[in-house]
Amino acid sequence: MKSGRETVLITGATSGIGRDFADLFAKRGYDLFLASRNREKMDDIAGQLQARQGAKVTTMAVDLAQPGSAAKVYEETLAGQIEISILVNNAGFGSAGEVADMDICNIREMIQLNVTTLTEMCRLFGGNMKKRRTGRILNVASTAAYQPTPFIAVYGATKSYVLSFSEALAKEMEDYGVVVTCLSPGPTDTNFFEGVGVEGLAEKAHGLWAKSRRMPSRKAAEIGLDALFAGKLSVVAGGLNTLTAFANRLAPRKTSASLSKKVMKQATT
Ligand SMILES: NC(=O)c1ccc[n+]([C@@H]2O[C@H](COP(=O)([O-])OP(=O)(O)OC[C@H]3O[C@@H](n4cnc5c(N)ncnc54)[C@H](OP(=O)(O)O)[C@@H]3O)[C@@H](O)[C@H]2O)c1
Repeated sequence: MKSGRETVLITGATSGIGRDFADLFAKRGYDLFLASRNREKMDDIAGQLQARQGAKVTTMAVDLAQPGSAAKVYEETLAGQIEISILVNNAGFGSAGEVADMDICNIREMIQLNVTTLTEMCRLFGGNMKKRRTGRILNVASTAAYQPTPFIAVYGATKSYVLSFSEALAKEMEDYGVVVTCLSPGPTDTNFFEGVGVEGLAEKAHGLWAKSRRMPSRKAAEIGLDALFAGKLSVVAGGLNTLTAFANRLAPRKTSASLSKKVMKQATT
């Protein structure tokens, strides 16, 4: 447990991995600033964490898939005079389907949330951390980052960006005492599969995404937190996921893309 009361900003803390991040940071003695869309859920979580852990929890209802939302969050922290010691860019979603058939607005929002907002948050809060010469950033990518992912092509590409961007940012920021870590979870048991856009997928998914193969979200969050406090550049959640991610990096890209096509077709249909 740490002594002072520093604040962690977590995006997407109303369910899944982000909800567990909120719990784990509160347990470690941090105050929280939560930013997601669902105000009711955030207020409920804030009440629980205040009562159980004594954490001060500030919430902001915001749609981070909208342009300019990162700046709004930044301004809200300035207005509340809340200094952010740790930034966790966790909010994200993925849609399945062939790119040629996908809804363009959905694609735009996915890129805005997973890529643009995440980058702007790093720029804004990371800028202050650089000046203060201290701070930590945890960005959530995915094992989808490690190879092309047909049938979730846009999602996978956004997560490849998160991985590459985070690792590069980490090398820039290490000179200023700021740690940047990228967490890549594999299939994890959260609401993520309900938002994928394939009717009933959350329950009927088999193969890679089968419910029985999903990691509990608590475990994925713990792995991310441990890596962040250990100052790691990157971590893949789980032994088998780590092995698969690195095997994909070593395989010729056409082999990895073809194999991924087979696996993703089975997982999304
Ligand atoms: N589950 C997996 O298998 C898996 C695997 C690899 C990577 N990941 C990544 O892990 C991260 C967390 O996902 P999860 O699995 O925990 O999914 P989840 O249970 O669906 O949680 C997603 C969180 O993001 C928030 N969110 C979604 N859209 C938002 C928006 N437009 N504006 C603000 N907040 C938004 C949601 O809150 P509100 O609804 O309240 O806005 C929710 O708190 C994501 O980046 C995801 O890509 C997940």
